[in-house]
Amino acid sequence: MTRVAVLGLLALLAGCSVSRPLEDATGAEIYSMLCANCHGDDLEGGIGPPLGPRSNSAARPDSFLETTIEHGRGRMPSFSTSLSEEQLARLIDHIREVQEG
Ligand code: HEC
Repeated sequence: MTRVAVLGLLALLAGCSVSRPLEDATGAEIYSMLCANCHGDDLEGGIGPPLGPRSNSAARPDSFLETTIEHGRGRMPSFSTSLSEEQLARLIDHIREVQEG
């Protein structure tokens, strides 16, 4: 299998196996449940690019994060059906806190 096919399969598996976080889950809990597999426990990157301090995402507006999480990007799956508006806002707050250190 090519590398692209392997990554595509991983994305598909991750997309299918995620369950919805609890409604009152913190941003950090949502991140570790839905994002850490691909972006690393500390946002350092892995299958997906780094999201932490000095990353591309750190320089982008909230709308970039929202669009990416809701609609997916490249091989990253969409999370529109797994997150409420409040959960999405908490998740983005968490990412911003880590980026600001
Ligand atoms: C199955 C693996 C996977 C999961 C799970 C995943 N991502 Fe991603 N993510 C990726 C990949 C791969 C990219 C790069 C997509 C591209 O540009 O082709 C990416 C890109 C991104 C980007 C854009 C980064 C940039 O600099 O362009 C952001 C922001 C992001 N992901 C946030 C998240 C968040 C938040 C979650 C959890 C809700 C998450 N991702 C879950 C794989 C994943």
